[in-house]
Amino acid sequence: MSRVVSVVGARPQFVKAFPVSGALRDAGHEEVLVHTGQHYDAELSDVFFDELAIPEPDYNLGVGSDDHGAQTAAVMRRLDDVLDSEDPDAVLVYGDTNSTLGAALVAAKRDVALAHVEAGLRSGDRSMPEEVNRLFTDHAADHNYAPAERAADRLRAEGAYAETVVTGDVMYDAVLAVEERDFGGSSALADHGVTADEFVLATVHRAANTDDPDRLAGILDGLASLPGPVVLPLHPRTDAALEAYGLAERARADLDVVAPLGYLDFLRLLDGARAVATDSGGVQKEAFYLDTPCVTLREETEWTETVEAGWNTLVGTDPAAIRAALTGGHDRPAKPSLYGDGDAADHIAEALERVA
Ligand code: UD1
Ligand code: UDP
Repeated sequence: MSRVVSVVGARPQFVKAFPVSGALRDAGHEEVLVHTGQHYDAELSDVFFDELAIPEPDYNLGVGSDDHGAQTAAVMRRLDDVLDSEDPDAVLVYGDTNSTLGAALVAAKRDVALAHVEAGLRSGDRSMPEEVNRLFTDHAADHNYAPAERAADRLRAEGAYAETVVTGDVMYDAVLAVEERDFGGSSALADHGVTADEFVLATVHRAANTDDPDRLAGILDGLASLPGPVVLPLHPRTDAALEAYGLAERARADLDVVAPLGYLDFLRLLDGARAVATDSGGVQKEAFYLDTPCVTLREETEWTETVEAGWNTLVGTDPAAIRAALTGGHDRPAKPSLYGDGDAADHIAEALERVA
């Protein structure tokens, strides 16, 4: 069994750690959980630990918000000290945030194995901060855990140095666990005054959309033109952008703008929505798992299999394209199994047995 330092820091990483931390501990690994502090608001952080009974982090590095360089550097400096004290066999990182990259760079320079969950994804857009983070992390890693064959093939084609294991997607494990618990009895539909299959759920937080007033306005125009309610749980980054561009009042007049939701309420709404409009990575997959058609507010995606399966449509930010994709009926083609069987976390725990 291995002694593993797992590093999380942002909302989607808490969701990914939920099944993985459980599986690591069940398999007898010793886990030290490090929260970098990249996300610190209760609604972006504490709520996930509370709802999903994720173990309390052993460390919170308190890096907070900053420019990319400073934030990544803060993760590096502070994690290095933790690794001095903890001396693990492996450092486990998730996804593609600055916390992922900072931890990966530190681990790569030390005598410790680096393992990457959600390896091998590419959008093909190097201007996207996450693309840089995932590319460097995959190529720094000793063990890459890919959600699907295509991601693994890409890693091999790129000549990645690491062992590559196709594990499936840990977010599928998370969705199944929460669905089985009937979303913790969430009353989110009633709380938000919406009826199943009669509303659209939306999320926006990608830098390319929030840092460009024209793109953000295009998304708002498209969503505001829809028949029926649109519930928009607002990421703080987007909240700040709407204020800065003078779009906040209009957004609140046309849409049901709410604070970021906990995972149980969010998945309950995603399950009940007639469709979701999003630029999130995780939400595209969760929509697929919950049989909710997804309209992606980007020109490209890492999750190309969902597009090919007919459950995800890339529309960008043009209001007419958003409206067209979200008006009328949605095809619900037969669903192939794309990202494993819902036991990705067990596969990761098993793969880590070879790392000690
Ligand atoms: C980060 C990740 C992104 C991921 C997203 C998940 C990077 C480069 N980006 O984006 O890949 O999809 O998390 O949600 O790592 N803020 C708060 N409260 C918080 C955290 C942030 O108000 O608890 C505000 C701050 O103004 C901050 C801004 O949100 O400057 C952006 O936060 P940051 O963590 O840098 O990036 P995200 O946009 O959240
Ligand atoms: N999520 C949530 N509440 C919200 C919005 C999203 O719990 O109000 C969850 C969502 O179910 C998914 C994760 O947060 O598990 C996705 O995070 P985000 O979209 O911020 O990041 P990305 O996946 O794009 O990196």
